Amino acid sequence: MLSRRNGILFVEDVSTVDIAEKYGTPVYVTSKLQLEKNVEAYKKAFPNAEKLYAVKANNNLTIMKIIASNGFGADVFSDGELYLSLLAGFERDKILFNGNSKTDAEIEMGIRAGVKFSVDSFDELRTIESIAEKEGKKIEIAFRINPDIDPRTHPKIATGLKESKFGIPEEQALKAYEMALKMKKVVPVGIHCHIGSQILDPSPFVLAMQKIGKIVAEIEKMGIQLDFIDLGGGLGIDYEGKGAPSPEDLSKALFPAYEELLSNLKAEPKLWLEPGRSVVGNTTILLTKVNAVKKGYKNFVAVDAGFNLLIRPAMYGSYHRVVVANKEGKEEELYTIVGPICESGDILAKDRMLPKVEKGDLIAILDTGAYGFVMSSQYNGRARCAEVLVSGSKTALIRERETLADLLAKQRIPEWI
Ligand code: LLP
Repeated sequence: MLSRRNGILFVEDVSTVDIAEKYGTPVYVTSKLQLEKNVEAYKKAFPNAEKLYAVKANNNLTIMKIIASNGFGADVFSDGELYLSLLAGFERDKILFNGNSKTDAEIEMGIRAGVKFSVDSFDELRTIESIAEKEGKKIEIAFRINPDIDPRTHPKIATGLKESKFGIPEEQALKAYEMALKMKKVVPVGIHCHIGSQILDPSPFVLAMQKIGKIVAEIEKMGIQLDFIDLGGGLGIDYEGKGAPSPEDLSKALFPAYEELLSNLKAEPKLWLEPGRSVVGNTTILLTKVNAVKKGYKNFVAVDAGFNLLIRPAMYGSYHRVVVANKEGKEEELYTIVGPICESGDILAKDRMLPKVEKGDLIAILDTGAYGFVMSSQYNGRARCAEVLVSGSKTALIRERETLADLLAKQRIPEWI
């Protein structure tokens, strides 16, 4: 998706200099071709699995529509993600409503929409039963189980450890299914876990499959034959240019464990996955302009995007590759790329060797399609930036840049002020 032509960084067949001129900066730029390649890789690696796109990774409607039109379902974590998924055209029976703290209103919305639920607590199970009763509807559910597995990733994105807030402890799993069996409106059809994100080694997924497989076999003895086993998302991507497992690598690693699991069952539960980052992560760059270069104890490159637009480096210490987009040259200076936010933690990239940078240059921050714009804010009174889609030599604005007036959205001033 990225190439250099006469020294200038191109996204597909479009120059980043032209994009900056036409749409301004900062701007997220997504390659449709790369998105389609990623979707295709999952379809090829997992032809028989249900692939649910984790909407939290990037909820731009155009991007969601492209993914939905490829037959993916959706993993949604809120009323808003459900709303967007329905608009984007994801099929209702392939939407799973996840979440550890759903409001009654969200549960009602999901029930009315006819989607499936991943149930995270006994309280939630009882709430679903009572709302479904009121609505006169049967609801298909899975339980999210916490399998206590260390995915060996950043602690803030490890979600399947004992101390994590997600899921029902594995030792309470059978009790959960027993309870569901006694209910009138709730139909247990699946089991769910998600162990973490940015996982670069398939073996924790295999362990998850084995642990969940044991529970599924126990559940069968209770007379419940499940339709699906959802192993969640979490496949990592190659942020550092050192390689990362592909969907195919994951498929190859999982297949024997899945076969083994099936051999112990009467039913043939389908495999479900919920990839987010590995579908959208490497499709997008954040293009940002240099406002100032300051030399001192450190060489700072101050750009017009900060942690208001890309919080991953500040929040998780995440590494994103950075390149100078408008010119090529020998990497001769060590720079730290910082944003305009009034916090010393507003660092996008630390100590990077780059060609000599000057005011007005364009910097591209790579692999920002997942957990980029979706985690943005208006902190420091900064309107959010635009998003652009590139396909071949075509470009389209897929989210307008906010204006200062958007900072007022929904604000009210009481008449007594
Ligand atoms: N399914 C569930 C239930 C999840 O909680 C998540 C991510 C996914 C699927 C998708 O995982 P993925 O394939 O994208 O790894 N903001 C953090 C990542 C948070 C992940 C939260 N859950 C980051 O920027 O690294």
